[in-house]
Amino acid sequence: MLVLGIETSCDDTGVALCDRDRGLRGHALFSQLGHAAFGGVVPELASRDHIQKLLPLIDSLLHECGVDLSHLDGIAYTAGPGLAGALLVGAALARSLAFALDIPALGIHHLEGHLLAPRLEADPPDFPFLALLVSGGHTLLADVQGLGAYTILGESRDDAAGEAFDKSAQVLGLGYPGGPAISAAARHGSDTGLRLPRPLTDRPGLEFSFSGLKTALVLAAREHPLDEQRRADLAFALQDAIVDTLALKCRRALAATGHQRLVIAGGVGANQHLRERLTADARELGIRLYYPRPAFCTDNGAMIAYAGCLRLAAGQKDTGTFGVRPRWPLNELSPP
Ligand code: KG4
Ligand code: ZN
Repeated sequence: MLVLGIETSCDDTGVALCDRDRGLRGHALFSQLGHAAFGGVVPELASRDHIQKLLPLIDSLLHECGVDLSHLDGIAYTAGPGLAGALLVGAALARSLAFALDIPALGIHHLEGHLLAPRLEADPPDFPFLALLVSGGHTLLADVQGLGAYTILGESRDDAAGEAFDKSAQVLGLGYPGGPAISAAARHGSDTGLRLPRPLTDRPGLEFSFSGLKTALVLAAREHPLDEQRRADLAFALQDAIVDTLALKCRRALAATGHQRLVIAGGVGANQHLRERLTADARELGIRLYYPRPAFCTDNGAMIAYAGCLRLAAGQKDTGTFGVRPRWPLNELSPP
């Protein structure tokens, strides 16, 4: 079974081909850069870019893989959560192409894609596992029992970890997206004794809250002139606070569930400092840590093609009604 995957939930146009027996055949991504000037994603611009980029990207992927449209057995697309207009571009193309080719189409949950992405790598994690999903829109810990069997153990009450990186980078004038910018600046920074809050770590539970962190950073930034070294030191303190908070909650969740496998997924999972910290923690706790390559942490078509391949191979397909789900709770999913 050969499946084309299409991801258009935000500002990345991603496509990929996944074969049930041979695995990932190829993938391609176009990252929209025009949003940087606005300090965040502009939904209307994102939709327009997807419209322009999606078909040429699919064409070149098929060409590169030596695959003809007639070889496809199904098309998977991100149906939510995400920006409504952006999702509609991918959904409309996927559904109409599938209709024309007389093959099934299937809407995939974006976060399911992220959760399964580490399974695209060599030596993939078996089920069950604990997943830390940290992206620009979500921060959550999930007990992953199998395909479609997810229990959310804790999530953010307000901003996601990636959002804290993005908003803080804007405060420091470091550009968008903020995660890679903060992480690059932090390499030139050092521990100046400034300790930003580790939200909700002083009480039991697995919930997160990152909105106050940006305010704490704004207040700290006012204390001294914001030269390059000060920016780097503040970036260091911010990254340290976020990573420390995430790592502490992972430890708690591992203790509560007894899981022996921890998976990091989502854009913030590309953060080197987070990976190093969790690698050290995993070694100490005697558990195994898994994470996808950085390109499969951030949004990509491969994770959607993979999730679609598993579900379509199990016989699942879209119902007759056409639509997307900009808000779609992960725990509404079920196995195929
Ligand atoms: O998963 P993703 O590509 O999109 C969503 O589904 O949200 O995640 C994007 C988020 C952004 O907030 C971005 O700043 C963050 O991931 N990010 C990082 C890094 N690379 C991307 N955060 C920290 N360190 C990074 N290296
Ligand atoms: Zn994402």
